[in-house]
Amino acid sequence: MKIPLTKLFLSIACVLLYGGTSSFSQEKSDPAAEAKIEDLIRKMTLEEKIGMIHANSSFTSTGVPRLGVPELTTSDGPHGVRPEHGRDWVLDNKGNDSSTYLPTGITLASTWNPELGYAFGAVLGSEAKYRGKDVILGPGINIIRTPLNGRNFEYMSEDPYLISKMVVGYIKGVQDQGISASLKHFMGNNQEIRRDGINVEMSERALREIYLPGFKAAVIEGEVNTVMGSYNKLRGEYCTYNDYLINKILKGEWGFRGLVMSDWGAIHSTKEALLGGADLEMGTDLSMLPNPDYNKFYFADPALKMVRSGEVSEKVIDDKVRRILRIMFKTHMFDKRTPGELATKEHAAVAKKVAEEGIILLQNKKNILPVSKMVKTIAVIGANANRENAMGGGSSQVRPPYEVTLLAGLQNLAGSDAGIRFEQGYTIARNAKADPSLIRKAVDAAKHADIAIVAGGWIHGYDYSKWDDNAYDAEGFDKPSMEMPFGQDELITAVARANPNTIVVLYGGGPIDMSAWVNKVKGIIQAGYPGMEGGSALAEIILGKVNPSGKLTVTFPKKLQDSPAHKLGEYPGDSVNVHYNEDIFVGYRYFDTYKVKPQFAFGHGLSYTTFEYGKLSAATVNGDTFVRLNVKNTGTMAGAEIVQIYVHDKKASLKRPEKELKSFSKIFLAPGEVKELIFKLDKEAFSFFDSKQMEWVLEPGGFEILAGSSSVDIRSKVEIRL
Ligand code: BGC
Repeated sequence: MKIPLTKLFLSIACVLLYGGTSSFSQEKSDPAAEAKIEDLIRKMTLEEKIGMIHANSSFTSTGVPRLGVPELTTSDGPHGVRPEHGRDWVLDNKGNDSSTYLPTGITLASTWNPELGYAFGAVLGSEAKYRGKDVILGPGINIIRTPLNGRNFEYMSEDPYLISKMVVGYIKGVQDQGISASLKHFMGNNQEIRRDGINVEMSERALREIYLPGFKAAVIEGEVNTVMGSYNKLRGEYCTYNDYLINKILKGEWGFRGLVMSDWGAIHSTKEALLGGADLEMGTDLSMLPNPDYNKFYFADPALKMVRSGEVSEKVIDDKVRRILRIMFKTHMFDKRTPGELATKEHAAVAKKVAEEGIILLQNKKNILPVSKMVKTIAVIGANANRENAMGGGSSQVRPPYEVTLLAGLQNLAGSDAGIRFEQGYTIARNAKADPSLIRKAVDAAKHADIAIVAGGWIHGYDYSKWDDNAYDAEGFDKPSMEMPFGQDELITAVARANPNTIVVLYGGGPIDMSAWVNKVKGIIQAGYPGMEGGSALAEIILGKVNPSGKLTVTFPKKLQDSPAHKLGEYPGDSVNVHYNEDIFVGYRYFDTYKVKPQFAFGHGLSYTTFEYGKLSAATVNGDTFVRLNVKNTGTMAGAEIVQIYVHDKKASLKRPEKELKSFSKIFLAPGEVKELIFKLDKEAFSFFDSKQMEWVLEPGGFEILAGSSSVDIRSKVEIRL
């Protein structure tokens, strides 16, 4: 018997309403812990309280040994536990600090698989625990506003909904291990240029619709324990102690009960910062090295003086101490933690799985991939093919026990008699140009091989001591342009001319200008930064052992000027301000609405199999809309499809994006298999933020619900009226 749609949805609505939904437990409290916290605060001297709210070494803040309160120990970072820098920033080079190097944030998000977010977080949490850390300084979730931001590789997406879904799993994964995650960088840190003080101006609508939702989900659904404020300002006030952001929105509207820490050195005043909602001042004044005096911190002696003089109430300090103690109790810092594990095979398997699902097949003309069994000789070209990335990029560096490069991955999988010849192709060095002799050798290798694989794209620097070498995808820098560095355009063009079966593998945290060669090569793979098992995952995808299933989390423009902030000339701002005048039209919201054709669209990613979408049907029950769709694997290989659900508002009183992502599902299908998918869209999925009324508004009328394989490849539609 076929169940009528409305009946089916009604029963699902009940399950969703009464089971399963996550609670807003930032409001929940543990009465026993709260009583102990109040007792501890009562027993502390003012000096002891002040000790707790500022750093006392590069990564720790002071405890109160007399009362059994331990130091709080933090560690980067978002995709692996950072090597030991001791208390003084000097790399230790002696301890057992080889941690699992997971794929970076953008590659994790490219999996579109929230369960992998959880597995990823669990690895981090377990390893942090083993290494004696209390807080992992991640995830980083700033919106990818410009392709040039040097930290895009650590972040997830241009789309707030996708971020919201991926971040919650990550946080729960970390925190279920009894370790705190630190959500960063709150907020508006969307460029590295002048990050220390640039003032971001954006509309309330952009704030609410684009820049805040990921943070909100992390706080409310993810129940994150700590939030790190960003370096920059918003509307004239530093974000770390921006009254509107921290007191009103984070701690007020969202009911955040955890700890707000500064980014390292992000506090620049005492009273304003104490009252603006920052709880813990971290960092090291580099000018104080090698003997920093932490008593000089704004939240140290100057704060003590202000409380003693009555300028700031002791209650303000108590609240900060309470928040620190709260996360200490929550993460078992007063009792015994379960043991963690470091760099196990299981953790490496998670790193590999994330890489397998996060690597994206962008182009596959004439099904050049997977590489046919008939192929006997492969030319592997490009310095990125045997480059390790883990120790580059700034604070997110990781020292893994090993890192499988693309070249090693191919050699391991194909075997030594596979006929692989490697040529470097280009030299990695700042401002390096095309090298004719390297190109000549690469062309020769390509000519004598059945296929040519060129590994290129962006880089992380390798040597942390040479700051400059970290550039391109690195903290503290933005990329100088979207053009390929080191003369790679010339190299790829020459290789493609020499061998029609050329495949390009791109590393990096986002878009690169491919216009010089995109139509000349058959295959393009976006590897992102795929972690310590990245080379194995890439080799398995290239040789057909794994079917690729990642999709882009950012639009790849044809050229930088097509990207909205650049088109408007609103990057990187002047020496004081940057105006986000593109407003809510970030990423595909801009490209779609203003009909600008991207190189590769948001949500795009190919598979070795094909999927057929059935007809969409929809019904609205108690204000929620349920959408039903069948998807079939019509090819010959098992594979996964990421079905994306977008909403298009047919008529609105405000200009709205052409479409917005409001749900998605990654499904795994055997050849011939069909699955029924049901998506729930609540009121918010159809609403926009009205800055005049200062609230979300749902305007009645017609809406289209679109099911797509990417933001531009819509396979099925249904219209509803609300
Ligand atoms: C970065 C943070 C990082 C901190 C500690 C800062 O420079 O912006 O992301 O967690 O340093 O290393």
